[in-house]
Amino acid sequence: MAIRNIREMGDEILNKKCREVTEVNDRIRTLIDDMLDTMYESNGVGLAAPQVGILKRIVVIDIGEGPYIMINPVIVETSGEQTGNEGCLSVPGKMGTVTRPNYVRVEAYDEEMNKFEIEGTELLARAICHECDHLDGHLYVELVEDGLHDVNYEEDDE
Ligand code: NI
Repeated sequence: MAIRNIREMGDEILNKKCREVTEVNDRIRTLIDDMLDTMYESNGVGLAAPQVGILKRIVVIDIGEGPYIMINPVIVETSGEQTGNEGCLSVPGKMGTVTRPNYVRVEAYDEEMNKFEIEGTELLARAICHECDHLDGHLYVELVEDGLHDVNYEEDDE
């Protein structure tokens, strides 16, 4: 387990499309463990593999209910709409308003390469959309509706 370096906007690896995972080996298991460590260390709610420089379709998410690990996730259904603040560990100190579906259903594989399904609403739906976008080389800044603004750290630290 280790903390990995988070790539920041401007690093071209964040704009590349990731490859599907075909087999979960020790390297992939270590990567997933490191992604979880790195996400928790940074107080993030999600992290995608390209953010630590690995172009593979893996995301981890924890909105405070325990971790979800999703390999090769595909959003198969969306509905509704939510508009709210979004941030990204690859765009430190910034936030912006983004509209996302309020509900998503995603199919993914677990660490044993068993297919499973997750439904999410509100923050979980937002996090799934945000992290899946990373796998196709997209950052939330492309969707921001009224420009990026600085995070108020004093408020966040309370
Ligand atoms: Ni992000």
